[in-house]
Amino acid sequence: PRPILLTRHGESRDNVRGRIGGDSAVSDTGEVYAKKLANFVEKRLKNERAASIWTSTLQRTILTAAPIVGFPKIQWRALEEINAGVCDGMTYDEIKKNMPEEFKSREKDKLRYRYPRGESYLDVIQRLEPVIIELERQRAPVVVVSHQAVLRALYAYFADRPLNEIPHLEMPLHTIIEIQMGVTGVQEKRYKLM
Ligand code: F6P
Repeated sequence: PRPILLTRHGESRDNVRGRIGGDSAVSDTGEVYAKKLANFVEKRLKNERAASIWTSTLQRTILTAAPIVGFPKIQWRALEEINAGVCDGMTYDEIKKNMPEEFKSREKDKLRYRYPRGESYLDVIQRLEPVIIELERQRAPVVVVSHQAVLRALYAYFADRPLNEIPHLEMPLHTIIEIQMGVTGVQEKRYKLM
């Protein structure tokens, strides 16, 4: 069995301000996580010479992976966070106040709701297909540093969780989810680093 390690980027400046989307850098706290993650990965994957680190093309995942040395890094556009379209850069409160109908529609059906000029969870799940195919093909461990919505979808695929649960799965910051695929099925461990 070989592990797949899933983690969100370290806390971003937009996370601190409660803004969704964007392409902000990591906060000081996020930087601390990046170092802890590097430490963890270097120990956990010590003799795994073929392992690789996958990030999105957004700064916060690239910066989070930056302190990890000794493994190739691959950037995937498909690992970018759900595109919030016209709501990109807003806080949930701002959406609720300025676009109450949109806010309500998303609450009603978070899985299917598509942000105007953006994506739905179903869209994200669809664009992740090539990533999943490649993850399945890998024989070596992979560390995926991505974003909340994307990781919910990836996690649900490997943990065999139903579609409707995906948008509501817990995906906290600064936590590594290790998935092991063996003959007896999937095993999961969580490491809360801070
Ligand atoms: O707030 C962080 C974030 O990654 C946003 O960029 C994104 O829109 C959101 O989480 C996705 O989570 P939810 O689908 O619960 O709004």
